[in-house]
Amino acid sequence: MKSLLIKNAVVINCDDRSLNKQDIYIEDGVIREVSFLINREADETVDAGGLLCGPGLVDMHVHMRDPGQTHKEDMHTLSAAAAAGGVTTVLAMPNTAPPVSSVGVLRDILDRAKGSCINILQAACVTENMRGERLSDLEALKIAGAAAFSDDGRPVENARLMLQAIKEAARLNVPVLSHAEDLNIVNGGIINEGEISRRLGVKGIDRASEDSSTAREMALAAACGGSIHICHVSTRGSVSIIRDAKRRGVKITCETAPHYFTLTDEALLSCDADYRMNPPLRTQDDVNAVIRGIADGTIDAIATDHAPHTAQEKADFKTAPNGIIGLETLLPVSYTNLVRAGRIDIFRLFEMLAYNPADILRTRANRFAGGDRADIVLFDPHGEFKVDINRLHGKSVNTAFKNMSFYGAVKMTVCGGNIIYRA
Ligand code: NCD
Ligand code: ZN
Repeated sequence: MKSLLIKNAVVINCDDRSLNKQDIYIEDGVIREVSFLINREADETVDAGGLLCGPGLVDMHVHMRDPGQTHKEDMHTLSAAAAAGGVTTVLAMPNTAPPVSSVGVLRDILDRAKGSCINILQAACVTENMRGERLSDLEALKIAGAAAFSDDGRPVENARLMLQAIKEAARLNVPVLSHAEDLNIVNGGIINEGEISRRLGVKGIDRASEDSSTAREMALAAACGGSIHICHVSTRGSVSIIRDAKRRGVKITCETAPHYFTLTDEALLSCDADYRMNPPLRTQDDVNAVIRGIADGTIDAIATDHAPHTAQEKADFKTAPNGIIGLETLLPVSYTNLVRAGRIDIFRLFEMLAYNPADILRTRANRFAGGDRADIVLFDPHGEFKVDINRLHGKSVNTAFKNMSFYGAVKMTVCGGNIIYRA
């Protein structure tokens, strides 16, 4: 019996949309009591001193790089970065080496994940080795513990296979996550197509790549009555296609990432590959549409798409691989640019950072009810977080927010009743 008492935490209660200064008593990894004054002996007592206290964040889109690319990140360093970002549950994408499309590879990851300080869920490939030729054995992967199916990093180009996957996943009650991109439209492009790509003289990616693929996924889900989740939404078109589909009753959910409501392709004028990711940074018009989608409920979740790559890999602007890290900036960037900026309230923020992604993944985030897993983030809404690449916790430092400052610094993270991070 291990116990932890957190005193004077301003608990964000999304059920009754209230903020109250409370004490939280945790035993054996679960919440036992939340009330105004708890006078109990505990193995450890922490005074939160009025910090905001929310459920540990659920990041439904990370690239852990383990197995096979552990020079970029591994399970241990990813967990450390997550803990420092207030993230207590992640969904790892299966584009590892080898990809997670066999029960053996999946079991190895889940076995090792049991020793991690955070909750690690693992997605498995929709198609065998992400080759897009044949479906993986989805039922066997589900039985072995796959939390989702995705070929993220690549689209499932064959619509017949995707339709089959959506039907099969509905039967298995596992979400399908779509990396919505048309590779024929991308055709070697490396940044958003527009004024900036023309100024730089580099090949652009038309937004139609994302929009047409999102529209296809809507049509497939509608056709069979199954559900689909769209990853990393970045365009005005994609937001409006999803909004319309939801109105029509299509079972669709989606996520965006902090960079898509914060940065535009103007950042690329620096010719720094740390601003290159897939989908690419778009324009202010797209940023505004993503923010409207967040505010009106079209967008369900915010995920990082944490995609570590080494400095050497990111050295050359044109040939560098796509992707940026994001675990340690998730809460400060989202809090600053959405809540402090007056776009949404703190309750809606935690719905997108914890409860909705947990629902999509058929799991439960901490609602501060008795018996809930004690996964908690404590953060300072007035505390500044400066993104200093020398003070991050992962293996790679390819952040698009370097040297920027945000409010909402993470001060402590608790996962399963253990304090896993203290600033
Ligand atoms: C991802 C990666 O590095 O694995 N990169 C990215 O820019 N998002 C893969 C992907 O989704 O394209
Ligand atoms: Zn992707």
